[in-house]
Amino acid sequence: MDTTQNNREKFEKDTRQLFHKLHSAQADSTYIFQRLTSLLSTDYLNVPEDFFRGKICLDAGCGSNANATYAMLKMGAKKVYAFDLDESIYETAPRMLKEFPSSHYELSTGNVLNISFADNSFDFVHCGGVLHHSADVFQGLQELGRVTKIGEVLYIHTYGAGGLVREMTSFFREKYSQDESFKGIVDNLTAQKLQQGILEIFASMERHGDSFGKKIPVNLVDELVDDDLVLTIQDRIAAPAYHEHTEEQLRACLEEEGFHQIERLTRYPYLKNMRRFLSPLYCEYDSEIAKLCYGSGLIQLKAMKG
Ligand SMILES: C[S@@+](CC[C@H](N)C(=O)[O-])C[C@H]1O[C@@H](n2cnc3c(N)ncnc32)[C@H](O)[C@@H]1O
Repeated sequence: MDTTQNNREKFEKDTRQLFHKLHSAQADSTYIFQRLTSLLSTDYLNVPEDFFRGKICLDAGCGSNANATYAMLKMGAKKVYAFDLDESIYETAPRMLKEFPSSHYELSTGNVLNISFADNSFDFVHCGGVLHHSADVFQGLQELGRVTKIGEVLYIHTYGAGGLVREMTSFFREKYSQDESFKGIVDNLTAQKLQQGILEIFASMERHGDSFGKKIPVNLVDELVDDDLVLTIQDRIAAPAYHEHTEEQLRACLEEEGFHQIERLTRYPYLKNMRRFLSPLYCEYDSEIAKLCYGSGLIQLKAMKG
């Protein structure tokens, strides 16, 4: 990508603007926020239940709803420092964290490519779904490694590489950046419009003597096509960048930064909408069908420094 200063600033501004819109909508839904805050757990990280007790943590690229910060505080972190690219996070994150004393967390603006904390500052560093949206995944990893204390843990998840679904989403992302009318459709998509479209298809089938659509109750259509799904579609298509990296590339970089005990994690995402049919593929990323659809899968790595 073009990384001249102006382009980089515009790229980061566009990235933050999109995610602020999506994260604010997520924050407005109790169900979505609860789903997101349940993703980071000691079971998932494969660490003892009291792992977070007394820990000073970093949530790099925390997003506007700061769901991982919330999860770490809930699990007993002593203090969580959370940052994202600009001030927009202040509009939402403090509201999402209001059940915790404000002395337990600190929100700031910052860039994962140039983290404003000293070397060896944190007992646990979390960077979820951020690096592949940044201008330089490897510089980000280097910075995350620098601020992790020796003997402590860094957790990242990144987009992964390859697979048919990723090829399709890349095609749509390209189209979104070039085709105003397609952009308008994606930007203005709602669950209601999608549900309506499906019901119109059922009605047309019925008119042509195929009543199969009638077997699918309207409330099931509403459940399979919800706001959570629409926000995911907009995330995948409207994000300025989704850089792809394999597990091997990320492991090699972590090793270079002095990490060992690098462990790939996985989890079964519990979803209500039609993405629930994909949950087995997300979780069992090594199955043949998962590799066909998602290549290397979502790369979720935990590593110890030093
Ligand atoms: C998919 S969201 C993930 C948010 C949050 N970590 C989570 O797990 O829900 C990606 C976030 O990365 C942030 N981001 C992208 N590039 C960044 C950078 N260079 N430095 C800091 N944050 C960045 C975006 O602003 C956005 O909030």
